[in-house]
Amino acid sequence: MSIHIDAAYEIKKLAQEIKEDLIRWRRHIHMHPELSGEEYNTAKFVAQKLREFGVDEVIENFGGTTAVVGLIRGKHDITVALRADMDALPMEEKTGKPYASQIPKVMHSCGHDAHTAVLLGAAKILTALKEHLQGNVKLIFQPCEERHDCGGAKKLIEEGVLESPKVSAIFGLHVFPELPAGTVGTRIGHFMASSDVFTIKIKGKGSHASRPHQGVDSVLVAAQVINTLHHIVSRKVDPLHPAVLTIGRIKGGYADNIIPDEVEMGGTVRTLSLELRDQIPKWMENAIWGVTLSYGAAYQFDYRQGTPPVINDEKTTKFALGMMKYLLGEENVVELENPSMGGEDFAEYLMKVPGTFIRLGIRNEEKGIKAPLHSPVFDIDEDALPVGASVMAFLAYKWVEEHS
Ligand code: NI
Repeated sequence: MSIHIDAAYEIKKLAQEIKEDLIRWRRHIHMHPELSGEEYNTAKFVAQKLREFGVDEVIENFGGTTAVVGLIRGKHDITVALRADMDALPMEEKTGKPYASQIPKVMHSCGHDAHTAVLLGAAKILTALKEHLQGNVKLIFQPCEERHDCGGAKKLIEEGVLESPKVSAIFGLHVFPELPAGTVGTRIGHFMASSDVFTIKIKGKGSHASRPHQGVDSVLVAAQVINTLHHIVSRKVDPLHPAVLTIGRIKGGYADNIIPDEVEMGGTVRTLSLELRDQIPKWMENAIWGVTLSYGAAYQFDYRQGTPPVINDEKTTKFALGMMKYLLGEENVVELENPSMGGEDFAEYLMKVPGTFIRLGIRNEEKGIKAPLHSPVFDIDEDALPVGASVMAFLAYKWVEEHS
């Protein structure tokens, strides 16, 4: 028999009490960043902390990856999941801060160090309130968000991370330099874009530059293909449905006086809707087929789906908005007007279970903190850490309370 507590009050108080811990953990991870799929020491650090807090189950190397999955057991058979990503990016840090990366050419410039610290904080808070917890909280410390090929969200789902116990809802957050520290934001529905990549090879016929009629000019055909592909978004896609098609890379040719036999290019496609995501590669292939045919060239088109769009569930997002307003005050919760065309593999979880992705404000102009994500001078206002930890803990606490 447990006494009723004011969870919002207790969680905010605990989050402030562990603020120094949060900063210390975040700086430790920040100083020792690890690339996607290589989060060995970060995972070890996380697992050790979870055991220290008294988390009931701690699984390391989940599904053969560097993931750490924890479980805090509550009273009833209902489970909510909280997710943080742990990987850093291959770039040199230039902040000059005392806690800057100690690893050359590896940096936490996307704030995943903060996400990991925040989820550790939520775990510490929830284990402290365990006797009041009405359901289970699964803690997913995920590797490899920045790359699609080394065991990120998709791999963990295949390995059963959303099963036993079965997850009923999932919440995750990402630091966001456009919102001030102390605030959070989210929106119902379309939130972030799908992120797919493609490679196109145009196969012509090589010849002497002075005798174009004897060859098939792969450079000219590539130019026409690029031109035609750029008409897909402007002429085929409904202007009310956002989409981006970018060709970011092209390679071909040997010398000024040779018509080359092959040109290769690559790019990315972003959409907010699943329908459009399925449709665009079909339009692309039609365009490439038609153009190459008309010139007598051949092609190879390789389209690889990356992450789907992040689509926030209506029910969990209404719940999250209400709870965050209650916890932080209306003025600190922003209902974001627009989605973004960035990608995030949290989308994979949202394809399986309802959930909400949240933006955690970290901007503080007075402290000079305003650099965008992936910048070599990216940093966060650490005052945001207890805010993030309290939000994650409160959403989990209230979700299992309301659904048990
Ligand atoms: Ni990120």
